[in-house]
Amino acid sequence: MAKKIKAAKKLRPAKKAPRAAKAWSGRFTETTNRLVEEFTASIPYDWRLYPYDIAGSIVHAGMLARQRIITRKEADRITRGLEDILKEIVDGTFEFSTELEDIHMNIENRLIEKIGPVGGKLHTARSRNDQVALDIRMYLRDEIAKIHELLAALQKVLVGLADRHRDVVLPGYTHLQRAQPVLFGHHLLAYYEMFQRDRGRLEDCFRRLNMMPLGAGALAGTVLPIDRKFVARELGFSGVCENSMDAVSDRDFAIEFVAACAQIMMHLSRLSEELVLWSTSEFGFITISDAFTTGSSIMPQKKNPDVAELTRGKTGRVYGSLTALLTLMKGLPLAYNRDMQEDKEPLFDAADTVSLSLSVFAEMLKSVSIHTEAMRRAAEDGFITATDLADYLVRKGMPFREAHEVVGRAVLRCLERHWGLGTMPLEEYQRLSPLIREDVYDAISVEASVTRRTSSGGTAPANLARRLQTLKKRL
Ligand code: ARG
Repeated sequence: MAKKIKAAKKLRPAKKAPRAAKAWSGRFTETTNRLVEEFTASIPYDWRLYPYDIAGSIVHAGMLARQRIITRKEADRITRGLEDILKEIVDGTFEFSTELEDIHMNIENRLIEKIGPVGGKLHTARSRNDQVALDIRMYLRDEIAKIHELLAALQKVLVGLADRHRDVVLPGYTHLQRAQPVLFGHHLLAYYEMFQRDRGRLEDCFRRLNMMPLGAGALAGTVLPIDRKFVARELGFSGVCENSMDAVSDRDFAIEFVAACAQIMMHLSRLSEELVLWSTSEFGFITISDAFTTGSSIMPQKKNPDVAELTRGKTGRVYGSLTALLTLMKGLPLAYNRDMQEDKEPLFDAADTVSLSLSVFAEMLKSVSIHTEAMRRAAEDGFITATDLADYLVRKGMPFREAHEVVGRAVLRCLERHWGLGTMPLEEYQRLSPLIREDVYDAISVEASVTRRTSSGGTAPANLARRLQTLKKRL
């Protein structure tokens, strides 16, 4: 927040500075109130659309020349001017102005300053409404590619961890109660699958948003003989938006993107929660390295899993962005409404939050040490193979419901005598059911429990080995 305020301050022009002319000053007789300028400006945050705004403008100018709407010479001067402006922005010498409202006007104003009135020809057959729709789509294409890659990198870390700890068993939980033993690798690869679907959601989103809106003008199209398909091709879009009003007025693609971000965060948050639990003294399954934890200012013994906690916390922020965008759009009549300027901050924040969370998370996971003995001990819990005992009886011909009942009684008996299922004497078992023989002990070992779960998608080591082989090839 502090940074944002500082950035906004830097943008506010000095009191004495001459006021920049507004592009729409023609029909106005009074100057804009300073507070209104501050209130309506989007430049404090939309400045970051500049690479897309400039790339889009260069292609637009080229198209105008191709269509003989402006001359080739004019287009070349505009292009060179825009390239210089790009350099100024990158070098940090460009002066952004709040009076000029947004990134589009800042760049156009500077262009006219640099190359003269011919710069004013750039906005031919274009409106800021289709321009901003273009910029956001181009920005999102890059963000999607980046996040898609970060997800793949995280998946790679998960596969590596699973591969290095193939034989490690830990309790699988339901209701956070020990349920059945599973392979640690199997547990990790559950997240691989989640992140794989997250990548799929981003790909879907990309496909729908990669349509070119320019040419929609303010809302109704243009009377000039533009070539939208050329612009689309040059800018790498797979087609053009078919309806000019839709092109400038929907932000469903941004909502879809943030929804995908929200689910990525939800998945990361669940994994965070597991890391938080696993690194407690109570679990003791993992240690997160010093580089990814922080200490307490009062309790010298503390080592806190802050990265995991903050990832969990930031999830709420991304959900907030999704809610903000959905709420922003719900009551808007067609076509463009100024409300839509409010789409940018939540959108940028969601993209930034997801990128940063994924980056730090992958690094943290690489640094985690796994305490296989503690996991194993927890998995040896006396009753964790109760389902296997029921399945044993089923294999001997007992209906499952009846077997469930028998095993329940066995657990009760064990609790009375402080036994585990693996240490209850055979005579006791046989009092519960004559179907139970000496071979029961093998059947309810943790090894057997895991090894026998060979159903497709089950936790058996053979399955894990096969899956890892596939995934290692894929990555
Ligand atoms: N800054 C505006 C936005 O981000 C650009 C479009 C402005 N269009 C307009 N008709 N005022 O939405």
